[in-house]
Amino acid sequence: MENKIILITGGAGFIGSNFIKYINRHYADYKIINFDKLTYAGNLNNLVGLEDTPNYTFMKGDVAVAKDVKNVFEQYLPNFVVNFAAESHVDKSILDPTIFLETNIIGTQNMLNYAREHNVEKFIQISTDEVYGSVKIKNRCSENSHIMPNNPYAASKAAADHLVRVAYRMYNQNVNIIRSCNNFGPFQFPEKFVPIVINNAIQNKKIPIYGDGLHIRNWIYVEDACRAIDLVLHEAEAGEIFNIGTEIFHSNLDLVKIILSELEKSENLIEFVEDRKGHDRCYSTNYQKIRNMLNWRVETNFEIAMKETINWYKNHHDWLAEIQSGEYTKYNEQIEKRNLLET
Ligand SMILES: NC(=O)c1ccc[n+]([C@@H]2O[C@H](COP(=O)([O-])OP(=O)(O)OC[C@H]3O[C@@H](n4cnc5c(N)ncnc54)[C@H](O)[C@@H]3O)[C@@H](O)[C@H]2O)c1
Repeated sequence: MENKIILITGGAGFIGSNFIKYINRHYADYKIINFDKLTYAGNLNNLVGLEDTPNYTFMKGDVAVAKDVKNVFEQYLPNFVVNFAAESHVDKSILDPTIFLETNIIGTQNMLNYAREHNVEKFIQISTDEVYGSVKIKNRCSENSHIMPNNPYAASKAAADHLVRVAYRMYNQNVNIIRSCNNFGPFQFPEKFVPIVINNAIQNKKIPIYGDGLHIRNWIYVEDACRAIDLVLHEAEAGEIFNIGTEIFHSNLDLVKIILSELEKSENLIEFVEDRKGHDRCYSTNYQKIRNMLNWRVETNFEIAMKETINWYKNHHDWLAEIQSGEYTKYNEQIEKRNLLET
């Protein structure tokens, strides 16, 4: 495989850091640029070990700030862009949508503008099944279904999808959009459902469940998602949108019970709390297109991957404790300083 420079935004977050490690494992010749603002959700500790790899560089920057984006493109002249950077927590978007609009919408437009100016070969936008809104499980949304987001996070991601599509229609930019279901796996920030449940259960703390707990989500192990992104990046035709999903659907309540049983903890830890405003009942997508066009398949067994994920959180107390104490920001600062001295 040819030497390529791949610019990954949001690479200090959950999926982005898993994807950087995936690319590093599979494409030894690629130069990886991790461009991340290091918000509360960005943690360079997710990439420990890579700092000393010559084909990996971290650059701090904000996708919503045009001059930061200009800098990273001018400095590194990437062939490929994968845009993970986002404010990603639905509850936060309900409290205050502003930063979601800045990062997820303006940020995506900035990335598209400079990708076009620098003739980037391929731009991948990481989107979500939430853009389709709530549907019955059997009414699977295809890539052509209506976009009907029901919370500010999903609306900002939907707006970004439209802008990416516009870049293809107006400028013939080589873009793809990937709409993924819920990912789980190591290095997920412990504000999200699976790590909260595991961590609270380990510490015998109450596990809050919204409403009646019967909201259904579709689950994918992060490694399967990374493989889908890889395929789209290297093989998909310009302008195509791909859903990625699995046959694993669980209500929140069922998923909590699975995790509690795996950890041999009592279901008495479950505590029902007031439902989230506009809480979507179910997301469900049809992902035949990526299966048929790119021959992508889920390779992970859900039960095994969930067991491994639970064990990972059990065995990474330090990672978690640092996040919970705010200590990881010190680590981020150390790496940033070192990077400034080096560049
Ligand atoms: N986690 C999921 O289940 C899931 C499902 C579907 C789609 N997605 C999408 O995948 C992407 C990654 O999700 P995640 O769960 O890894 O998120 P995350 O919150 O764990 O990570 C987001 C990363 O983006 C960085 N970031 C935030 N604002 C930025 C900005 N203005 N400029 C540069 N960097 C910024 C953060 O510092 C962090 O490192 C997002 O676009 C999200 O919408 C996630």
